[in-house]
Amino acid sequence: MIEEIKKVEEEIRNYLHELRTREDLEKFRNTFLVKKGKIQQLFDRMRELPKEEKPKIGRLLNDLRNLAENLFNEHLDKISHTESTKPKLDLTLPGRIDYIGHRHPIYQTMDRMVEIFVSLGFKVAEGPDIEDEYHNFDALNFPPDHPARDMQDTFFIKSDKKLLLRTHTSPVQIRVMHATKPPIRYIMPGRVYRNEAISARSLAEFHQIEGLYINHNVTFAELKGTMIEFSRRMFGENLRFRFRPSFFPFTEPSAELDISCFLCGGEGCRVCKYTGWLEIAGCGMVHPNVLRAGGIDPEEYTGYAFGLGIERVAMLLTGIDDIRMFYQNDLRVLAQF
Ligand code: DAH
Repeated sequence: MIEEIKKVEEEIRNYLHELRTREDLEKFRNTFLVKKGKIQQLFDRMRELPKEEKPKIGRLLNDLRNLAENLFNEHLDKISHTESTKPKLDLTLPGRIDYIGHRHPIYQTMDRMVEIFVSLGFKVAEGPDIEDEYHNFDALNFPPDHPARDMQDTFFIKSDKKLLLRTHTSPVQIRVMHATKPPIRYIMPGRVYRNEAISARSLAEFHQIEGLYINHNVTFAELKGTMIEFSRRMFGENLRFRFRPSFFPFTEPSAELDISCFLCGGEGCRVCKYTGWLEIAGCGMVHPNVLRAGGIDPEEYTGYAFGLGIERVAMLLTGIDDIRMFYQNDLRVLAQF
């Protein structure tokens, strides 16, 4: 009997290393501590013992049961403690990379364009989105019956017929002329608004960069030089250029600038609609009436101006062929640029 008690004690002590989880403990309890467990079985056999051995064996068995119970309770405590203090955060997992937003492709394009003009000596000016008819049209030599003034093209502010959402960045030219004196060399980026049907090619809100240079003896050759230098830095060295005669009320003469398609090299592709050319800017020599409206004497000064659409350039550079994609805030699109 003593031998058997020793054996069970040894078994209990060996079990120690295996007590890690609640399941291990439960197994331990079922083996030793329940009614049909090994310890109780030994107690049951006390009946067969001669009287004089009973007290001794009884003591040994009580010690054995205390040992098993103490070990059980000790380990239960330990396991409960590790469970409650186990960090919720698994520090061995790889870190989660925080998504940091970045500049919108339209503004990346605008930044790049501004950067190039700044490196060519231009300063940056801005004007209000809500303009008046005077700056948006009158001062820019639009005749009173010009169709752009029509409600169909322009968003007027209902409560005040003289206020409108600017349809182009050209009114900032007038504001710059009033605020500074020649020589004037400014670019004016900003958002503009037109009452256009929304499609893959046009939105009611878009962005432009306006340019203005006024000094003594400014010539069309300087306008060409600036536009060509800008385009080479923006789109690449190997471009060909075409200045097509055009018309704007605020410039005379006026031109539209085409660059050879930098995607197909002028061969003709979907983007240039198989013409080999991309239209990128309107420009011209500032009309004498506009200089006068800006408080500048056209006999003393001349100047050139230009206007570029930013979305158009961003579409060319990103390959996005539906202008609406810029504003749908789909991160699968925006995160690519
Ligand atoms: N304001 C014109 C537009 O919105 C663009 C433009 C053309 C601006 C010629 C200019 C310019 O400064 O000289 O279509």
